[in-house]
Amino acid sequence: MEVIVRSTAEEAAAVVADRFEQVIRSHPEGVTLGLATGSSPVLAYRELIRRHREEGLSFAAARAFLLDEYVGLPRTHEQSYYRFIRDNFTSQIDIDDALVLSPDGEATDPIAAAARYDRSIVEAGGVDLQILGIGATGHIGFNEPTSSFSSRTRVKTLTEQTVTDNARFFDSPDEVPIHVLTQGLGTIMEARSIVLTAQGEHKAPAVAQMVEGPISARWPATILQMHPSVTVVLDEAAASQLELTDYYRYVQDNKVRLPH
Ligand code: F6R
Repeated sequence: MEVIVRSTAEEAAAVVADRFEQVIRSHPEGVTLGLATGSSPVLAYRELIRRHREEGLSFAAARAFLLDEYVGLPRTHEQSYYRFIRDNFTSQIDIDDALVLSPDGEATDPIAAAARYDRSIVEAGGVDLQILGIGATGHIGFNEPTSSFSSRTRVKTLTEQTVTDNARFFDSPDEVPIHVLTQGLGTIMEARSIVLTAQGEHKAPAVAQMVEGPISARWPATILQMHPSVTVVLDEAAASQLELTDYYRYVQDNKVRLPH
């Protein structure tokens, strides 16, 4: 796990955008992106939109899979993740809208819809770069504590803490759906590379567990310690409970450079 700490959320977002740019430019024949919603990736998406507009970064060869969706929220609802990703990112770049896919939260049979969605990711050849946020409970996607490490896309029930955390996006806490469709931990772990970003002090305990804690379903994000290519990009507040920050900075300052 590579840990990068930046002074501000904007600087952290630029690092995340760099990862996207690298993977997009190195896959001109087509690239599959895994997209998170929520507030964590929004600054990085904004930076990517800027690079698209001002520097010609093109997403024309990209397809995308979202991590999750609320059960029962119509696509037209501004807090559906179908709509959120379009409003905050994909409608402002040149990706083909038909190739921005998400679990079907309106399906009459959400369990079957989850299985279908999982298959569609595998059939597309998997995800090249997955961006993740982390919840205060340690969830990635909506894999709340005690989620199976081998889980696939399925229906989950949000913890009360996550419902409370997400209530800020809705007019009232009662409006937050408690059920979601989410990629499983096993599904997320199949992405070829992962970048997780977190900002703010409220994320610090979950970040410390994820990076330095014991691997346990109590903190689902700890499974990322088992992935061969994960970069964690933090602002200082989110990094504030890490014990080894000096070492992570030292690693960044002394990166191995290959001879040209
Ligand atoms: C969203 C997702 C969640 C969020 C997490 C953090 O698609 O899968 O895991 O990344 O709940 O949410 P924010 O970024 O709003 O703090």
